[in-house]
Amino acid sequence: MKFKNFLKYKLKEIKESDLYRKRIIIDKDVINFSSNDYLGLKDNPYTKERLCQNINNLSLGSGASTHVSGYHHIQKELEEFLADFKQTESCIVVGSGYLANVSLISAITTEKDIIFSDELNHASIIDGIRLSKAEKVIYKHNDIEDLEQKLKSVKPEGNVFIITDGVFSMEGDIAPIDKLLALAERYDAILIIDDAHGTGVLGEGRGTLFHFGIKPTNHIIQMGTLSKAVGSYGAFICGSKLLVEYLENTMRTAIFTTGLSPVQNFISLENLKIIQKEPHRGKETIEKATYVAENLKDMGFNVKHFGTPIISLITGSAKKALEYRDFLLRHKIFIQAIRPPTVPQGTSRLRITVNYNHSKIDIDYLLQTFKKLKGAT
Ligand SMILES: Cc1ncc(COP(=O)(O)O)c(C=O)c1O
Repeated sequence: MKFKNFLKYKLKEIKESDLYRKRIIIDKDVINFSSNDYLGLKDNPYTKERLCQNINNLSLGSGASTHVSGYHHIQKELEEFLADFKQTESCIVVGSGYLANVSLISAITTEKDIIFSDELNHASIIDGIRLSKAEKVIYKHNDIEDLEQKLKSVKPEGNVFIITDGVFSMEGDIAPIDKLLALAERYDAILIIDDAHGTGVLGEGRGTLFHFGIKPTNHIIQMGTLSKAVGSYGAFICGSKLLVEYLENTMRTAIFTTGLSPVQNFISLENLKIIQKEPHRGKETIEKATYVAENLKDMGFNVKHFGTPIISLITGSAKKALEYRDFLLRHKIFIQAIRPPTVPQGTSRLRITVNYNHSKIDIDYLLQTFKKLKGAT
């Protein structure tokens, strides 16, 4: 009874603050501007056809942890492809971006180490730091001066790490990787880039590091997910051979969990090959997003856009974000309302994501509907 009351009370609290979440299935006739499938690859007909042709040679499940019997040729091929694509010596693929972050951070740090983390880093990084025994120092979002002040003020006994999203998932802005790397070199730190939203889109698909024209070194760890622009599922960590060998032996989410399905890895690999062959997809998607953002700004909305497919239309209150979302949905457009704890209090928003497959008609309809929304509020 006590437990039932606890659940009821908590849910009531969530509802009263407009933070109640309910999963929605988006009908086929609704235009989705809320997916991380930036390059439109999750429904790619060519990959579907390739999958049908190859399905008889692929196991449907991996059958075990990759350390037992769940490591298959296709995962090895995917890891080799990613290492080559990210220009690193080696790569390890794991179940998801969340699993990669929570386990990478705790595997490579000890109680003697210090982790410097951007205040807007993704929840999986925050949870990874929580699981590690290292000291945590939060620096202001993308603020190089604040980070340097903080780096100067510590006397590390062990290793120093700087960790940042490459493209911030909710802001859509790009971390100043060139400046972060300069600081990492000056203070002998390892730079970890979570390139969940940069991979496939920036740097001709290779990610944020390449967007800055920086060559990977053994002082940089590139992590990313296969679930966003790659249109599949799973995640990777790319770095030196030594790092990957160490992770194979220590990462709990690589050891104590079943490997990804060979079918899933096949899809990742096929879609990555498309990204490599068609690097214009990312650039064209960003151009469309810029067009949408500029038009929304002209209408008077509070819009933030930083040259990625992600646009934030800030509503401030959670209630208003929900009202906007519901208005759009009544007009067959889906844009999810993003509220705390995903974003800080008072910064609720519509997170609009433009993708490669959105047509001119889709985009014009989106803008017309926002115009109507402006008139109605
Ligand atoms: C920056 C960032 N890192 C990691 C993740 C987790 O990736 P996955 O969805 O593959 O678990 C996300 C997903 O939202 C993300 O935005």
